[in-house]
Amino acid sequence: MKDAAPKTIYLKDYTPFGYVVESVHLTFRLAPTSTRVISRIAFAPNPDATDRAFFLHGEELSLIWAKIDGQDVLPDVTDDGLRCTVPDTPFIWEAEVEISPQTNTALEGLYMSNGMYCTQCEAEGFRKITYYPDRPDVMSTFTVRIEGEEKVKLSNGNPVGSGDGWAEWHDPWPKPAYLFALVAGDLVNHPDRFTTMSGKEVELNIWVRPGDEDKCAFGMEALKKSMTWDEEVYGREYDLDIFNIVAVDDFNMGAMENKGLNVFNSSCVLASPETSTDMNFERIEAIIAHEYFHNWTGNRITCRDWFQLCLKEGLTVFRDAQFTADMRSEPVKRISDVIDLRARQFPEDQGPLSHPVRPESFQEINNFYTATVYEKGAEVIGMLKTLVGDDAYKRALDLYFDRHDGQACTIEDWLRVFEDATGRDLAQFKLWYSQSGTPRVSVSEDWADGVYTLTFRQHTPPTPGQDVKDPKVIPVAVGLLNPNGDEVVPTRVLEMTKAEQSFAFEGLASKPIPSILRGFSAPIVLERTVSREERAFLLAHDTDAFNRWEANRNLARDCLVAMIRNGAGPDMAWLEGLERVVRDDTLDPAFRALMLSLPTQSEMAQVLFEMGTTPDPDAIWQAAEDLRGHMAEAWQGFLPELRASVAVDAPYKPDAEQSGKRSLGSALLALQSRLDGGAAAQAQYDAADDMTLQLSALSQLISAGQGAAATKAFEQQWKHDRLVMDKWFGLQVGMAKPDMAVDVAEGLVEHPAFDMGNPNRFRAVMGGFAMNHAGFHRKDGAGYAFLADWLIKLDDKNPQTTARMCSVFQTWKRYDDGRQALIRAQLERIKAKPKLSRDTDEMVSRILG
Ligand code: BES
Ligand code: ZN
Repeated sequence: MKDAAPKTIYLKDYTPFGYVVESVHLTFRLAPTSTRVISRIAFAPNPDATDRAFFLHGEELSLIWAKIDGQDVLPDVTDDGLRCTVPDTPFIWEAEVEISPQTNTALEGLYMSNGMYCTQCEAEGFRKITYYPDRPDVMSTFTVRIEGEEKVKLSNGNPVGSGDGWAEWHDPWPKPAYLFALVAGDLVNHPDRFTTMSGKEVELNIWVRPGDEDKCAFGMEALKKSMTWDEEVYGREYDLDIFNIVAVDDFNMGAMENKGLNVFNSSCVLASPETSTDMNFERIEAIIAHEYFHNWTGNRITCRDWFQLCLKEGLTVFRDAQFTADMRSEPVKRISDVIDLRARQFPEDQGPLSHPVRPESFQEINNFYTATVYEKGAEVIGMLKTLVGDDAYKRALDLYFDRHDGQACTIEDWLRVFEDATGRDLAQFKLWYSQSGTPRVSVSEDWADGVYTLTFRQHTPPTPGQDVKDPKVIPVAVGLLNPNGDEVVPTRVLEMTKAEQSFAFEGLASKPIPSILRGFSAPIVLERTVSREERAFLLAHDTDAFNRWEANRNLARDCLVAMIRNGAGPDMAWLEGLERVVRDDTLDPAFRALMLSLPTQSEMAQVLFEMGTTPDPDAIWQAAEDLRGHMAEAWQGFLPELRASVAVDAPYKPDAEQSGKRSLGSALLALQSRLDGGAAAQAQYDAADDMTLQLSALSQLISAGQGAAATKAFEQQWKHDRLVMDKWFGLQVGMAKPDMAVDVAEGLVEHPAFDMGNPNRFRAVMGGFAMNHAGFHRKDGAGYAFLADWLIKLDDKNPQTTARMCSVFQTWKRYDDGRQALIRAQLERIKAKPKLSRDTDEMVSRILG
């Protein structure tokens, strides 16, 4: 709970711990409210440290006894740890503590979920298990003994023995405590095997609650694909005899990369065609890969301190994106990632929560597992790879693994391997790690005497704590087309390093049409006034799939802006251009579906705000409705036929090909449903035997106002399945008409199956509600008050999930004075809550500014 004055931790204050840990032995005597943890830890003075104060972190622990070298000691115990006088030579620390997993609702440390014991230690949860230097630069081998009646008892590393009521594990790879894990329960497994590239046999298991065995096969295939991919692309093989994955129902995050024992939110690993959508399958494949890839980027090479979080997360997100691009479609993955970056990272980087990819201070590290650290962190690595080229990237990564295996590293170490592998000076590039904010780049062009010149100007607006910004290195991928639509200059990377810079292209027969920032080569906002004709030209002809999509996106934005601001009708010329793409059956259906997806209402609010127009959520909603209505009407002649042509008539597979067709089919159904009163959606609902088709049909029925019967039927069919019921909760509140959204949300929290203690269920309702842009931003503030009520309720139980959810308020300064005042009042109400958690306190304070 909140201290009198919240403590801020600074990167510049880093000092190494005074002791090294040579080995850790832990014994767990499991009991729901009185688990005993007995530790035996070998410490030795750290020759690299000057400060020898002996402080061990510890929170919510009852110390039973402690010994040094076998002699009882009486440490000085406080709320956050203990201090003790220790010898100046190597010594053995032993202690016994008692903890209560059953009442641990924060889901951090050792807790229980459906009768099963499990742990979550990243970032600072190990200190809720026993007294320990809980910091990532303290690495050690762990031996763990688990005593209890549970059938299955797992920890990190390899199993070394078991008997009646006990099991022992040993992890030979030194690791920080945040990678520790323990699981015990009556679980069943889906087993498999993998042979590594050097011929080592590895046992693989996915452990689940009885009844979920039939939802493991897809995850297992994804794991084997990930293992093969990391060998082939990064030359990295697995390093233990066994790799375990466990599915847990109550989990704050998606999944966790504990060494040899990955723990997954069940929503991120369990899958079957009947219960999971194509999107679920794709996410599961990516997250299994992500956690597996951490074995090298995170575990074998870890972070020196939590300021370096992007070292493992940015790199691992980058790696999982490469993997998904290889398994599926590269352009579709890139476009989806940019949509996500703009929806989550741009608002963060341009609002009160803006922080550098490597932050310089924090109060609660859990609040820094952000889109900036993760997604912008991955973008920075993508830029680095673009700048140095694929071969140099590979050399740098080989050097990284070679030089730093077994170490706890910094961004400086990371950049140095690139400097050493390439001879480049990356001092200026490093600004991407230290400067927050989204650079804005404007472009002007000049055509004279056969020379075409592009001039770029970069500018990063001030962000909290950073008023002045220096110019960054920005790789701008550019291609040029001639007026016939032929590519006359293939993609070339222009390296921008100054505030203003020009690049000339010679030898052109006519003034070209530029395609700028191909593949979204840098996470910036491109400011360029482009005529509708030029955008339409790029929509028709650009050879870069991303920029083709981008041209369409800009046309859609412009069209919506004109509808909202001037009450204009839709841009029919754009719709004709879009129609040609949507009906072009030489193009990937998944790409065509992305072309059909309109900017979200929240994105439009941002666009209007940047143009100096205060966004009106109701007007934005109405314009999006009207536009979809126009599209449906203009295209009614071909919608049913086109939809039929992409229908899949083969057994369900969650692969890129089938899911692309279903995704286009669903976008077309959404339009069709505007004309037929939901008839086609009802027919799809009745015939559906996979969740993708069932859910898209239900969603269209609800938005056509015809969802009552299907919503009931869906509940009857799926009330036994938590993960499907999460979709049911989320869809109703997400699809509700804006003026009904608060009522729907209030009804859902009264439903017997609503359980605020389960993060998935809480997020389904509250996250779904906040995504209902116009409903959440209802003018009378009822939406804000509803959400604040629930954040206040959850804070006592689960600070982490509460704090993360606060970010839905981060864009509040976009809106009108009335709404701002209403939001401010709710933020202040949360802030005034007695015993507000440190997590939520920090978030609300930063959002208030
Ligand atoms: N290490 C994280 C999990 C984590 C996050 C633990 C925050 C503690 C606090 C894990 O590798 C991760 O990043 N998981 C992501 C999914 C991933 C695909 C980006 C998650 O859980 O959302
Ligand atoms: Zn991760």
